[in-house]
Amino acid sequence: MSFMQGFIFLSTLSATSRLGVRAFAAVAEPQTCTTKATGGAGVHVPIGKDGEGEYTASTKGCFDVIDTATPLVLNEIEKQKLRPFGVGSAAYHIADYGTADAGTSLGLLSQMIQAVRDRSEDDDKEVVLHYEDQLTNEWQSVFNHALGLKSVSDAYGKLIPHPYALKNVFIEACGVGFHNQCYPSNSIDFGVSFTAMHWLSRFPSSLKGTEYMHAARCDESPHPEKEQAASDWVAILKARAKELAPGGKFVCVNFCKDSNGYFLGQTDVGASMWDSFQSSWDKLKEQGLIDEEERLGVSFPNYYRRKEEFMDAFEDDEISAQLKVVSIEERVVRCPYRELYTSGKSNKTPREYAEWFTPTTKTWSHSTFKSALRSERNEEEKEKIMSQFWENYMSLVEKNPEVHGMDYVHAYIVVEKVE
Ligand SMILES: C[S@@+](CC[C@H](N)C(=O)[O-])C[C@H]1O[C@@H](n2cnc3c(N)ncnc32)[C@H](O)[C@@H]1O
Repeated sequence: MSFMQGFIFLSTLSATSRLGVRAFAAVAEPQTCTTKATGGAGVHVPIGKDGEGEYTASTKGCFDVIDTATPLVLNEIEKQKLRPFGVGSAAYHIADYGTADAGTSLGLLSQMIQAVRDRSEDDDKEVVLHYEDQLTNEWQSVFNHALGLKSVSDAYGKLIPHPYALKNVFIEACGVGFHNQCYPSNSIDFGVSFTAMHWLSRFPSSLKGTEYMHAARCDESPHPEKEQAASDWVAILKARAKELAPGGKFVCVNFCKDSNGYFLGQTDVGASMWDSFQSSWDKLKEQGLIDEEERLGVSFPNYYRRKEEFMDAFEDDEISAQLKVVSIEERVVRCPYRELYTSGKSNKTPREYAEWFTPTTKTWSHSTFKSALRSERNEEEKEKIMSQFWENYMSLVEKNPEVHGMDYVHAYIVVEKVE
């Protein structure tokens, strides 16, 4: 990141600092980020304009994933030893890594604050929420959501409380990227991360020129993606090992390829989202909109690790000396859009369903598909092709809505820093 980028980023957030909110990004030591593509920036590009909160508005399944993890998180707080007061802050520090626009975790963070206060028998206990994501994140929406300036509801229309209302809560933001150390050593009491750490720190792009778009679709994981995922996971754990206070916890809910071979959008229920992506993308060529190189040009820079691949990193001496795995389990969370449609509760026509469901697949994939288009094409031309791609997908969904959904397949990993 250049000095100017850092300056603009901090300036953008200066209005929020007047509200008692602090933010920082990787301006001081750019060399700490260079090996990690400035915190992975560009690997995942948010859709929508900053401040609109399109991610939270279109990603209702992530609320269910976080709800599924909530008992696990609260149980760990209940068991956690209280940190003795030392020199410096007596506040409890929670970090949400890869938070996106902070909307989906609002409810959990509110519950965590309450649990910490119950645990410490102090209703006024100060809690610091550290929102972490890439420097290109939708930061304005983070503050809109966390401060309660924009309301948030889940897939079922339930309004989610925002943590700032609980008082003595301090909101901070960090744009360093989770492959790097984001916080001072021994400073974080509890880290959480949902549906984020499958994004790699750089683009292996080994699937360009092949019929596969994603490593999970290959019978054998392609080496460049597999190796990048392994070294990234080691970097992620080493960074958390430094940041966590002794006795601190890290709950990482990460996409995986499970023991049945299921992964995001491809389980025992319904059509494979990846088959639908493929046929909708291929159709662009039949429609004369892209050429063969572009058709084969999609290669997702993310990786769904298997359970063994998560565990391998704990063989590393530096990691095993500091972190222990409390538990790891795989779970499937069904697509709430499809469940609401098939149960008749959504009251939507097939076309309305297609327009409602498809954006949840778009929030995270749009930029990768778009990057397969020739660089000579201008922005307007690229977006026109992308609109047709999403129209192709919606037409497919509309024909047979009940089979289209995006089931979530995650590993729920609980880690503790040894004391
Ligand atoms: C699918 S969203 C998940 C958001 C939220 N945690 C949830 O569960 O709804 C994935 C997020 O990971 C973030 N991300 C990807 N690579 C990252 C990196 N290297 N460092 C920090 N965040 C990253 C993306 O910017 C995006 O906001």
